[in-house]
Amino acid sequence: MNKDFLCLSDWSLEDLEKIFALTSDLKSKQKAGIQHHLLAGKTLGMLFEKSSTRTRVSFEAGMFQLGGHALFLASGNTQMGRGEPIKDTARCMARYVDGVMIRTYSQQGVEEFAQYSSVPIINGLTDLYHPCQVMADLFTVIEHRGDYRELSYCWIGDGNNMANSWINAAAAFGFELRVATPAGYEPDAEVCQRAADAGARILYTNDPSEAARGAQVLNTDVWASMGQEDEQQEREKAFSGYQINMDLLALADPDCVVMHCLPAHRDEEITEEVMESRHAIIYDEAENRLHVQKAILATLMG
Ligand code: CP
Ligand code: NVA
Repeated sequence: MNKDFLCLSDWSLEDLEKIFALTSDLKSKQKAGIQHHLLAGKTLGMLFEKSSTRTRVSFEAGMFQLGGHALFLASGNTQMGRGEPIKDTARCMARYVDGVMIRTYSQQGVEEFAQYSSVPIINGLTDLYHPCQVMADLFTVIEHRGDYRELSYCWIGDGNNMANSWINAAAAFGFELRVATPAGYEPDAEVCQRAADAGARILYTNDPSEAARGAQVLNTDVWASMGQEDEQQEREKAFSGYQINMDLLALADPDCVVMHCLPAHRDEEITEEVMESRHAIIYDEAENRLHVQKAILATLMG
């Protein structure tokens, strides 16, 4: 078992599936009102260098439901925000808390933090990855389809942190994935190479129709991620034609499901009509952040 949850590729299929099994158990206990204080007396530090609604609230509520406590730290109010080295912050925080969740820009920064920390570190999103989100996404697919295997998945839009994590997931879990991005906005080349070396079944294309045809799970995300706000206008031009709308859905499996990690820009990357349609499983997906992350927390800190 790994000490940290930084990237899906660091984890074995067996251990990832154990997280799903524990998620089911904890979700049914929570729904039935059965106490599950697996982290009684434990504290999670949560360091945020970027905005968040779901990640912050689901980790904080999740720690409380597990009998523990979560501590919200906005980086601007910490000494790290004034330049204190990561390695000093990491070593000191490990003396106070039992785990740290970090949302920041640099994946390397999170890895350095983990290297110097004696307690588990969880990646709550970097520019490169969003592994907790993709675990919640796959758990939601299992709930709606009974299993994640034997389905065809597509990613439409930006080759961003979510796309990279879906590519890692395709390699780790073995499902078929088609990724459609505009030229110049492809996923990270090293991530793609590593997935290919691991035997992942992934098709890369610039044609959203090719990716969506017959797909059972369609996924997208904003065109400009946090930190790319200045590029919004040029990205809107580059991504026109990459919208998940009813015309694109007509090419997919008639019973397909549509996912979005949120926040969404309605009528940009996805239409209001699709978001409100029977295909969207977006709010179940958001809810499952809570349940999956509780399983990750209990696995690492229990
Ligand atoms: N999907 C997600 O991570 O949402 P927040 O940015 O609100 O945390
Ligand atoms: N790709 C988006 C995901 C937000 C949860 C971003 O990084 O802003």
